[in-house]
Amino acid sequence: MKLKKNVKVIFFIIMLIVISLISLSFFNHVFDYKLQDSIVEINYNDNPIIKFHASEFNIEVSDYFEKNYERYISYKKENSDMTDDQIITNVNIGLDNEFYTNIRSSNLDDGILVLCNKYNQLPKNYVPSLVTMTSKYSTGGSLHPVAYKAFKEMVDVARSDGIKIYNVSAYRSYWTQHYLYNRYVNRDGILKADTYSARPGHSEHQTGLATDINTASSSAHFENTKEYAWLIENSYKYGFILRYPKGKEYITGYKYEPWHYRYVGIEVATYIYEHNITFEEYYVKFLEQY
Ligand code: DAL
Ligand code: ZN
Repeated sequence: MKLKKNVKVIFFIIMLIVISLISLSFFNHVFDYKLQDSIVEINYNDNPIIKFHASEFNIEVSDYFEKNYERYISYKKENSDMTDDQIITNVNIGLDNEFYTNIRSSNLDDGILVLCNKYNQLPKNYVPSLVTMTSKYSTGGSLHPVAYKAFKEMVDVARSDGIKIYNVSAYRSYWTQHYLYNRYVNRDGILKADTYSARPGHSEHQTGLATDINTASSSAHFENTKEYAWLIENSYKYGFILRYPKGKEYITGYKYEPWHYRYVGIEVATYIYEHNITFEEYYVKFLEQY
């Protein structure tokens, strides 16, 4: 009888310990927060600590960065129709500033995920690793070896599907871009040129990771071709994204370019494809260092 009672007590104690351990680890894991002035630091499911003024932004977990706080507030005043998530993403991208203002140096440590846009500039003398493309894949030019390997695989599979794709413009040096951009400015004026041509140092073509496929002209209406349809369905499987999509001009700063693809690797391309976002949105969410 006594033995039975002891077993019961021991069992009860063990259960108590197990339940305490489980709840302790759950709360630690999911929601570890501490108050510090008006800022809350949250460690959510092992993501890096995110800070926010909880009372002012209607968010639980987002990409809020304390150093952008004043900018979120002013941008929110001017864009009261936007959600807090949109405000935070847009400010993190830099969209609260005019294009080509507050320019930073592209972070070359990002490797194949380097961001080059109207706010992030490559050095004049930046030349990536390059390999010359053969005539089977290109009308000429060179690409970063990693991008070229993926590009060849994509072209070969497309051809087996009866789709003929090839590169018409890949790597361009700072000075080639300088020449092209100035030619367009002389022809169309700076405002128009800025909608379709990057200023030198700001062209993704200088990364060696971008390729214009089959054309580089709006008048070709590449978006109506079966080659384009194939690329939209399949390019992410080889690590390429449509870099300047329709409807995202306010983020990329360029009009729709159905021919311009950027290599980012299969994993990132798949995420961007599945979430229907731009590289800018991906970058500030996962790669930006604050
Ligand atoms: N056409 C693209 C935006 C460039 O000039 O790099
Ligand atoms: Zn291009």
